[in-house]
This record gives sequence, structure tokens and C-alpha cells, in this order.
Amino acid sequence: MKSLRLQLRFLLPLVLLLVIAAYVTVPLVDKLTLRWFLRDLDVRSQLIAENMTNTIVETPEVPSQRQLQSEFNRAIRDERIFAIGLCNADSKLTASTAAFPPRLDCTQAREAAAQSPAIVTLPRGDVHVTVVPLTLPNLKDGRLVVLHDLSYIHLRSADTRRYLIMLFVALGCGMALITVLVAHISWRGWVAGTKALLRGEGLLEPFRPPPELQVVATDLREMLREMDEERRSRMHAEDWTPERLRQLLNTDMRGEQVIVVSNREPYIHFKREQGLEVQRPASGLVTAIEPVMRACSGTWIAHGSGSGDRESVDHNDRVMVPPDDPSYSLRRVWLTEEEEQGYYFGFANEGMWPLCHLAHVRPVFRLSDWEHYKAINQRFADAVVKEARTDDPIVLVQDYHFALLPDLLRARLPNATIITFWHIPWPNPESFGVCPWHEEILKGLLGSSILGFHTRQHSRNFLESVDRFLEARIRMEESTVSFANDLTQVNAYPISIHWPTLEESARWPSVQDCRSGLREMLGVADDHLVAVGIDRFDYTKGIIERFHAVDRLLQKHSELKRRFTFVQFAAPTRSSLDEYQLFVQQVHTLTDRINARHGDSSWQPIRLIAEHQDSDEVTRHYRGTDCCVVTSLHDGMNLVAKEFVAARDDGYGTLVLSQFAGAARELNTALIVNPYDVEETADALYRGLTMSRAEQAERMRSLRTMVREDNVYRWAAHMLLDAARLRRAERVSARIVSREARAA
Ligand code: F6P
Repeated sequence: MKSLRLQLRFLLPLVLLLVIAAYVTVPLVDKLTLRWFLRDLDVRSQLIAENMTNTIVETPEVPSQRQLQSEFNRAIRDERIFAIGLCNADSKLTASTAAFPPRLDCTQAREAAAQSPAIVTLPRGDVHVTVVPLTLPNLKDGRLVVLHDLSYIHLRSADTRRYLIMLFVALGCGMALITVLVAHISWRGWVAGTKALLRGEGLLEPFRPPPELQVVATDLREMLREMDEERRSRMHAEDWTPERLRQLLNTDMRGEQVIVVSNREPYIHFKREQGLEVQRPASGLVTAIEPVMRACSGTWIAHGSGSGDRESVDHNDRVMVPPDDPSYSLRRVWLTEEEEQGYYFGFANEGMWPLCHLAHVRPVFRLSDWEHYKAINQRFADAVVKEARTDDPIVLVQDYHFALLPDLLRARLPNATIITFWHIPWPNPESFGVCPWHEEILKGLLGSSILGFHTRQHSRNFLESVDRFLEARIRMEESTVSFANDLTQVNAYPISIHWPTLEESARWPSVQDCRSGLREMLGVADDHLVAVGIDRFDYTKGIIERFHAVDRLLQKHSELKRRFTFVQFAAPTRSSLDEYQLFVQQVHTLTDRINARHGDSSWQPIRLIAEHQDSDEVTRHYRGTDCCVVTSLHDGMNLVAKEFVAARDDGYGTLVLSQFAGAARELNTALIVNPYDVEETADALYRGLTMSRAEQAERMRSLRTMVREDNVYRWAAHMLLDAARLRRAERVSARIVSREARAA
């Protein structure tokens, strides 16, 4: 209907113009051709008269009546001549052909011939009258009257009119077709270009709109740029707090529902003899996302892995958390042991985890694990669809457990904004290519509206993997991928932590108490030097490498013996896997060896505490230590480093940080080391333990400013603002598309 109206806008004026042109042109052409025909008839009549004069004059005798008659009859063999008559000087008809109308005398014929047009209407139709002088030997001042039948001219005239009208109709159709076609092509081009602009594709390498639309395109580009700048300046200018994030959700995101999906749940219920116990798992993901969820009050969907999880949910498998201040809903998804084995331990942790971390552990890929992985991704997609209150929620998909989920969601909730965050590194295309299902994983992730990594390097590796394995359109400058009609913005969003409020930090025990507590636990004096490592017991964390550094430190600085202890808190993790069991064994063996080498009955240089620590305990360790050591062999970000900085509101303490942890990009005033370089790490540890208070304070000030400003609310806001921009652009282009569809 719309299309008809749009086309009529072009066609009606065109048709009107053609009708007017036909209305004016046809009678004009008719008149003109008639005039040409009549002039032609005059000339023909002259010729007939001349012919006749010549024939008769060449005859020696005076022409008889019979001779004249036969000349006349010969002339009217031309069927267009209707009749011929001969008038004498007295205007008497002296000879004529049989059809000469008796009603027409010589005088009338002369008068008619003098008129323009010289036409006489007879009962049988119109005739054209020509009177030409004819002088014969026996006839002075004779006049030859030639009557031409006009019916053939009328026929020709009607033919001309018909052809003319046909010509106009054909011209109209041709022009209409071309106009509609050109309009259609231009419209499509404009729509495509506008959509490209709105999606941010045309900013650096603009599409070329037709000249008449340049102005609009320039304005649109300008508007988008302004929006972008405004967003960026808001990102940088503002202090990001939970309240500010809540505001953002209510304004820019119009209070849309936020759903988080992760494998690990933020609160795990365990059955104990004395009842249910709740634990916060040792997980960077939980550390980062939990405060965001408190601010957003949405729904968090995760695997219910605790022994008491089923007992603490309602009939919809939901429980409100945090237990002491319920502010969002935790929806648990149940897995059988076999499913957990295949999807979590198998594909995610024996396949994807070593694949993405350069820690020299071989990934293992089993078809049965992959099948479970696919099935569980599907189950979580079903859970999201069930939890969604609208068709366009904001879904925050977390980590390598859900590489297929974005695309599954895109199919079920096409209007959802899907923000996927990959918490671990992304390898280069060669390494990634060893996964037998690399294509499926890339396609799955490209269902996301936004795909985030911790560092630019990981985003680049991802784009290069897409480039290597898929037929997709990649814009490196804008960091976008167009695949299967979907656009994914791939960016670096360095994750962070909640910066403690004054009330929260006021509840912490004093640094002095924490120092004493930690030393008391170790059974050492108050001035004893202590360095800590706080990690999951994972082979990517560089625990072996840091122990070698401690060993080397004590070789190089024997004066530190009995004056220094390294405490490693290692939370048990993925303990059923061979690699992890082997690793735990290796760490224990190494600890014993180093302790035997340097220690004695009263002092051990390394204390390995392989137990889960709750968040209060962790804070106390951060506050009580002289130096915190993070020596990951490869790490997406590593939030231990940031948590340590946040816990040191006294402004002192040192951080030794691996250059292979994403955090090293931001925390560059820490003591950055290559953990494979034992000398360098040992020296950094020594520096960290012996650094002057002034230098500690200076470095810590810069670290604290960084972590406070770039906190987890800024991280979430950054992604949400990008999503909001994308959402706005998509809504506008959806409107354009629906208009286009209605018009088609
Ligand atoms: O680093 C990836 C990650 O998912 C983190 O977000 C988290 O700290 C860790 O792994 C937790 O592992 P899991 O959930 O297997 O215990």
C-alpha cells in the first residue's frame, strides 16, 4: 500500500504531464498533417491539369467531347481523385466524370476552392476542391475542377492520432518504469547507507550517498559523532558508583531488564551438619559482576553447584541474594554429574581453558564433551528466554563456558542486546585453530551485540581468528564484524572491582592488626617480612615460578632467612582433573624441597595454605602483607592485583605483577616481571620487600587512583553505553527496515 502511494507520488505528475502533452500535440499534428495533405492535393491537381493540357495540346486536332471524357476517366483511375469537371469561361460545366456531384456547379466550385481549407461536404463525405486554369484550342479561359476524396486523408489522420497516442502511452510506461526503478535503487542505497552509518560502519570510511542526500548524510554522521563524543566524555568525566550505574540503566537503558548468565554462581549453598552455609566462590568473575548486579537488581542465571542449592530455591529455582541484603534474583540451572563432567570439566576446563591460556598445558577435545557443552548452552538459552520479561532484555553472557549461547539467544530473542564478556585471554588464530569446533565457537560468539575482552591484544586475536576461519566482513579500524546479517562490536573493556566505600573500609580491621594477625598465624615476630600470593590453585597462576623466585631470593639474600616468609593461599579448584591434581602435587613437592633447602625446625620460607579463604580473610591478608605477588603465566586480567590495591587504604605495600596478566597494562607502577625469568622475579620480590616507605607511597598512590577511577561500574557503564548506542541505532534502522518492508 505504502509502496503504491510512494510510486504514485512519482507517477501521477508524470501521467498528467503526458496527458496534457498528448492533448496539445495530437490535434496540432492532425492539423499540420491535414495542411500538408491539402497542399499536396493542390500540387497534384496542378499536375493533372498540366498533364491534361500537354496531352491535349500535343494532339493535332481539336479534342472531341469523347477524347476529353476519356482523358478525365484516365485521370480518375487514381482512386484518390473522386471526380473531374471542366468549366468554360461562362462557368458552365462542359465535361465531367460520372461521379461529379450534380449539386456542385462551377461557381460554387470556384468559391470553395478559394477557401482554406478548400473542402466541400457532400452526402458521401468530404471532398477537396481544386480549380486550375485549363486552356484548350477550342476552349479559352477554361477551368479544370478536380475533386479529391478526403476519406483516405481522414483515415490516415486517424492512424496518425492512434500512433501518436500509442507513442505517448509507451513513452509514459517507459518513463514510469525507469523512474520507479531509479527511485527504488536510490532508496535502497540510501537505506543501506543510513543503516551502515547508524551502526557506526560509515564513520571512518563513509558510504557515498547520492549528491542530493549528502547533506542529510553529513548531518547524520555529525549527530552520531557528537553522541559518541558525549558518551566518551561522560565515561571519563564521571565518577562511577553503583548509584550512577543505576541511573544509567534507568535513563539510557530505559530501565530494561538485565540478565547475567555465568557458569559460576555468586553464592553457593552447602549442606553442613549445623544447616545451610553460604559461600562466595574464589572467582574473578564473581568479584566483578556481583557488585554490578547489586546495582542493577536483575536476574543472575548460573549453575547450581552447591550441595545445598536445591534446598534454598523456590519452586521457580530462584533465590534472592545476597543473603544479608537481598537485591537481585539468582536463578539456578541444574546439571547432572555427567553433564557437568562433559560441559564444565571436560570441554570448558580441559579444552577451552588450556587452549586460551599460554601455560603449556595441552587442550583435550572430546566429542562427548562437546555434545554436553552444546546441550548445556541450549539449556541456559532456554532459561534466559524463560526469565526474560520483554523481547529485548540486556543479557550479559559471561566467559568461555558459553561461547554458543549468544547465537542461540539471538535466534530466540532477536531484539535482545547481548553483551558477552570473555574473562580469559583469546589466543592467536594458529593456536585457536586446533580446536576442532573453532568455526562453531566463532559463529556462536558472533551472535553478541558486543563482545568484550580485557585487552586490545585479545580483541585483535579474536578478529584475526574470525578473519582466518569465517567469511565475515571485518572492519579493523572500527573493530566490528558483520556476519550473517548481525553486527558485533568487538572491544577491549578492562574489567575491575568495586572500590570500597568509606563505610565499608571503616569496618576493616586496622592495618596494624592485620599485620600482627598474619604474623601471629605464621608464628613469627611483628617485624618479620611477609609476601603473599592469593590464587585459585591453578597452573596458569605461575605458583611454581614464584616459588622458584623465592628460592632464588633466599640464595641471593641469605640475610632474609628467618626474617621473611612467603605465604601462598591457594583455593582448591577443578580438583577432579588430572592436570590440576598433578599441579597440586608438583607445588607441594616444590614447597617441601625449598623449605628443606632454606628452612629449619623454627622457620619455613614458604607456607602453602591450600584452603578457600572468605572475602574478609582475603582482605586481612592483603592489609597485613608487605608485598603481594601475582605471577600469572597468562591471565585475562587478574583481579587479585586490583583487590590488593583497593585494600591498602594505608597507602603502603608493594605489588609484584606479571607482565602476562591483563592488569599489567593498567597497573604499570607495580613491579612488573616476566615470571619465567627467575632472576628478575626474585629481584622484584627483594625490591618489594625492601622498598622505602616514600617509594611505596608514591607507587601506591598512582595504583589506587587508577583502580578507584576505573572501577567495575565504569567497566559496566562503558559496555552498557556502547550497547545503548547500538540499541538506539538498531531501533532506528529497524524502523527504517520495517518501513522498507511495508513499502516493498
Ligand atoms: O578466569 C576465568 C574464570 O571464569 C574467572 O572468571 C574465575 O575467576 C575463574 O575462572 C573461576 O573458575 P571456576 O568457575 O571454574 O572455579
